[in-house]
Amino acid sequence: MCGIVGYVGHRQAQDVVIEGLRRLEYRGYDSAGIALVADGALATQKRAGKLANLEKAIADHPLPASDIGIGHTRWATHGAPNDVNAHPHTGGSRRVALVHNGIIENFAELRARIEADDHVMLSETDTEVAAQLLELQVESGIDLATAMLRVVRQLEGAFTLVAVDADDPTRVVAARRNSPLVVGIGEGENFLGSDVAAFIEHTREAMELDQDQVVTITPEGVSVLNFDGTPAEGRRYHVDWDLSAAEKDGHDWFMRKEIHEQPRAVADSLLGRRTAEGHLHLDEMRLSDQELRDVDKIIIIAAGTSFYAGMVAKYAIEHWCRIPVEVELSSEFRYRDPILDYSTLVVAISQSGETADTLQAIRHARTQRSKVLAICNTNGSTIPRESDAVIYTHAGPEIGVASTKGFLTQLVACYLLALYLAQVKGTRYGDEIDQVMAQLEEMPAHIQRVLDDAPAIYEMAREHVDTRSVLFLGRHAGYPVALEGALKLKELAYIHAEGFAAGELKHGPIALVEAGLPVLCVVPPAGRDQLRDKMVSGIQEVRARGARTICLVEDGDDAITPYADRIVRLPRVPVLLQPLVAVVPLQLFACELATEMGHDVDQPRNLAKSVTVE
Ligand code: M6R
Repeated sequence: MCGIVGYVGHRQAQDVVIEGLRRLEYRGYDSAGIALVADGALATQKRAGKLANLEKAIADHPLPASDIGIGHTRWATHGAPNDVNAHPHTGGSRRVALVHNGIIENFAELRARIEADDHVMLSETDTEVAAQLLELQVESGIDLATAMLRVVRQLEGAFTLVAVDADDPTRVVAARRNSPLVVGIGEGENFLGSDVAAFIEHTREAMELDQDQVVTITPEGVSVLNFDGTPAEGRRYHVDWDLSAAEKDGHDWFMRKEIHEQPRAVADSLLGRRTAEGHLHLDEMRLSDQELRDVDKIIIIAAGTSFYAGMVAKYAIEHWCRIPVEVELSSEFRYRDPILDYSTLVVAISQSGETADTLQAIRHARTQRSKVLAICNTNGSTIPRESDAVIYTHAGPEIGVASTKGFLTQLVACYLLALYLAQVKGTRYGDEIDQVMAQLEEMPAHIQRVLDDAPAIYEMAREHVDTRSVLFLGRHAGYPVALEGALKLKELAYIHAEGFAAGELKHGPIALVEAGLPVLCVVPPAGRDQLRDKMVSGIQEVRARGARTICLVEDGDDAITPYADRIVRLPRVPVLLQPLVAVVPLQLFACELATEMGHDVDQPRNLAKSVTVE
C-alpha cells in the first residue's frame, strides 16, 4: 500500500518522480505528492485524489528545476484522504521532507511528546511524527543517514521512510522495516521505489535490501547500514522484464491487457520445469527430497484471490500426493494457535510477495520450526526472501489491482508443487506425472480459445449493467472459481456478488433466488464421479425459482442446454485443471461490466494492489 519514489542524479527529478508515481499508482490513489530540493530549500506540492490532480497543481504552480526528489501515492490509513494528510510531510522549519508507507504504531505517544515541546503538527497522519523527529535530528548537526538511524530506533510498526534534507542536495535517505523498498542502480544516478516499476524505464539493475536497514543514494553510489549502524550489502539482481511489460499496449485497461496475456503467462510459468530426462525440477525449491518426504501436513495461507488459488491447490495436492492440506486466510492463521511442527509444510501464496497478513503468518510458522514455501510473482519481495523455498510464477508485472494472470500462474505453480511432491514421495508414477504435465502444456492454447470468444462474453456483460446482484455456483475445483468470479465482480463493478458451493445452496442461500436473478454456474467436466450430474440438479433448482442461469460448460456437454438461459463453452480439460479455463470468462465479464458502468477498472475504489498493513 502506498507507492514511494526517490531520485538523485542528472535528470529533472520532477519528471522521474511523477513518471515513477504513475507506474506505482496501482498501490494507492487517495492522494499524491512530491518534494524537490532546489537552491537550499524544499519545493513541495501535494493533492488529494489521483495523480492527475497533482499534475494539474504542478502545471498551475510550476516547481523549480532540481535533480533530487521524492514522491508518494497514498492509500490512506491515518487521517482522511485530503491535501493536508497527503505526503510528503515536512518538519516544522521545512528543512526535511519525508514520505512513508506502513503504520507507525506508537505514533500517538511520539506525537504527544513532540507537541509537548511546542512543535505544531499540521496533519492527522502518523507520518508527520517521523518527519518532525527527523528534522529535529538533522538540526542537531548530524547527517541525514545518522538522523534516520536515530529516528527508526524510536519507531514501532511497519514502515518504509524516504527523506531529503534541503541543506544536503546530494542524497536521498531511506529506511525499511516490514515494508517494501528496492534500489535502482543507474549510471551517475540512483533510484528508490516501492517496486522496480518505479524506475524500470531508466534501469533494469536493482538491489534488494534486508529488513531493518537504512540506505543512502547519491548520484555516485549506494550505501547500506543496518539499524544498529553496522555496514551491510544489498543483493543486486537484474530485472527480467522491461518497460513494455508495464505499458497498456493498446488496451483500455491494464487488467484487460493482463487477461489477454494469460496464455503467454501460463506458458512462461511452465517453462524450464523439466530436466532432459523428463523429471520435474523446481529452481528455487531449496528443500531436500528428504525434507519433503518428511512432510505429513500442508497448510496453505493466502489472502483474496491467492486464497482461492490455495483452495484449488488443496484438491490437487490431496488427490495426487495423499497429504492432508488445510487452506487458511493468512489474516486468521496465527490467531487460532495453529498446530505446526517441523513436519508441516506451510505454503504461502502471494502475487506481490508483500501482503502483511501473509508475511506475519509465515514468520509465525517459522518460529514453530515449520518449513515455508512461497509461491510468488515478485522477484526481490519480502515473502520469498523470508521463505525456505520459492516457486516464482513468472507472470510478469501485474498492474491492474484485480488479479488475473497472477491467479492463473499461481494455479500453475500449485499444480507443479503437487506434481513435484508426488514425484518425490512416489505417490504417482512418472508416466502419470508426464501425462498431467502434457495436459498443462496444452493449457495456453485452451485459454486462448476462451479469449477468442471474448466478444460474446462482453455482449453478455453489457446486458447486465442494471443488475444489482449476481450469484456464482461451483463444485469441487469449480467452487473456488465461483468465489473468484464473485470477488472480481464485487471489486470492479461494486455490485453484490456471492459464490457458493452448489451443494450448499439448499442450506440457506437459495432463499436469495428470485425472478431474473443472474446465476453463473461453473459446470464440472462430465465423467468425474457424479459431480456434473449433481451440478445439473442444482441448476434446475435455481431455474425453477426464476433465476437466469448462465452456464459455463465444456464442449460437447449438451445435457445442460435445457436448463441454461445462456451457455458459455469451455474447452474439454480434466476437472482439476478446469479452473485455468473456467475463470477466464468470469474475468472478462467483470472487466467489461465495470467498464460499461463507467468504473475505473485498474484502480477500483478503496483498494490497493499490495496490502502492506495488517
Ligand atoms: O499480493 P497477494 O497475492 O498477496 O494479494 C492478495 C490479495 O490482496 C489480492 O489477491 C486481492 O484479493 C486482489 N485484489 C484480488 O483481485
